[in-house]
Amino acid sequence: MSDRYDYRAYLLERIADRSLRVGVIGLGYVGLPLAVEFARAGFTVTGIDVDPEKVAQLNRGESYLPDVPADSVRPLVEAGRLRAVTDVAAVAELDSVSICVPTPLRKSKDPNISYVVDAADGIAAHAHPGLVVVLESTTYPGTTEEIIVPRLLASGLTPGEDVFVAYSPERIDPANPTWNTRNTPKVIGGLSPVALEVVSALYSTAVDRIVPVSRPAAAEMVKLLENTYRAVNIGLVNEIAIICNHLGLDVWEIIEAAATKPFGFMKFTPGPGLGGHCIPIDPLYLSWKMRSLDYEARFIQLADSINSNMPRHVVGLVADALNQDGRPLRGSRILMLGVSYKPNVCDVRESPALEVLRLLHERGAVLAYNDPHVPELPDHTPVLKCTSLDDTSLAWADCVVITTHHSAYDWEHIASHARLVVDTRNALAGVNGKATAKVVRL
Ligand SMILES: NC(=O)c1ccc[n+]([C@@H]2O[C@H](COP(=O)([O-])OP(=O)(O)OC[C@H]3O[C@@H](n4cnc5c(N)ncnc54)[C@H](O)[C@@H]3O)[C@@H](O)[C@H]2O)c1
Repeated sequence: MSDRYDYRAYLLERIADRSLRVGVIGLGYVGLPLAVEFARAGFTVTGIDVDPEKVAQLNRGESYLPDVPADSVRPLVEAGRLRAVTDVAAVAELDSVSICVPTPLRKSKDPNISYVVDAADGIAAHAHPGLVVVLESTTYPGTTEEIIVPRLLASGLTPGEDVFVAYSPERIDPANPTWNTRNTPKVIGGLSPVALEVVSALYSTAVDRIVPVSRPAAAEMVKLLENTYRAVNIGLVNEIAIICNHLGLDVWEIIEAAATKPFGFMKFTPGPGLGGHCIPIDPLYLSWKMRSLDYEARFIQLADSINSNMPRHVVGLVADALNQDGRPLRGSRILMLGVSYKPNVCDVRESPALEVLRLLHERGAVLAYNDPHVPELPDHTPVLKCTSLDDTSLAWADCVVITTHHSAYDWEHIASHARLVVDTRNALAGVNGKATAKVVRL
């Protein structure tokens, strides 16, 4: 293809007839559902992941994610529409690549953008005229233009002329029964009008509604507004829970009553802290970026400070509750229910329950946990295996701490067999009348 080749027409035609060779880099919670959705839309999709185990599983037609049933993967793999490789050199044979690699924090709470840099280096080494590059990983405003674009330029390509670059944030909510990759609107910010047009055409084959914005940095900011909004509102309601505790008021009663207002109030609920790969992390990408511009993002810092302190607050409630029973925390037997960061998932990344466990361990409690989705916590201090939840384990515990309200739990049974419960999720709300256990709520 020459420099004057009409890539726009070429790409739009290949999207329309589904002959575009689609790639997804990073086959995790975000990348795998996206790859499946593109394959379902009729494209031949190549997933690229550095993890050989995931690649092998996918090529066997297996799924390693609860939200992606093997039934949806196997027929696509068998039909040759979905395959996985470990070598980023596959980009040379692709027309589009969507980058879905992790964007965690360093120990210092600064962004760790190294996975995006590695992916961008890999793409640039094998990029060719006509390639479409979409960054999906959540990151600070400016990443697409500061990290992706210079590497493509250095490999002799010109965004807007012979490569087409966009940012499109992923909004997937694991275990959400209503909203999935296809029916959640997709925001797209193109680096050029053609990039926006082509990427919108590509994604509209797999996603019901496209929301175009002016540029990649705007799309990057949209995602951070969404997640900062959640982090700040959860921080607010967590602080209200602490305030209510001081005032001797029931925060859950107050939230339920406030939520009857039909306008101007959105219900958020308190808990043992923030968890998951997104809400505790993403706002800190924004505050880090703002620090580099000599601006302090105060709402983000304050919410982070309140939310990060919630596990300590929960441990205080446990110690007080045991104290009322005449027991010290040291040596008391604690059974924690739910260690994943939210109900009905197996993901323990950033889960506040782990921090509660760590703090209880530090203070000398004897620990056990149950979680129907998490069989063991091998990388955690202390290393623990899931205990069965039955009359024996409930009778063993001096205190049961509810940290994640999985729907598999029989709350009535728990409330009528435990001695003392610290309920951080108001999980026992419906059974309190029948509870024989003493219940302390957040
Ligand atoms: N999980 C969510 O619910 C969610 C929701 C919205 C946005 N996000 C964002 O999406 C991005 C991905 O998150 P995730 O939860 O899918 O992460 P994940 O850890 O589940 O998956 C990332 C995958 O990328 C692979 N990988 C890492 N470096 C690579 C490289 N250089 N080349 C190829 N593969 C590589 C890893 O092996 C892993 O399989 C993050 O920026 C995250 O913040 C996640």
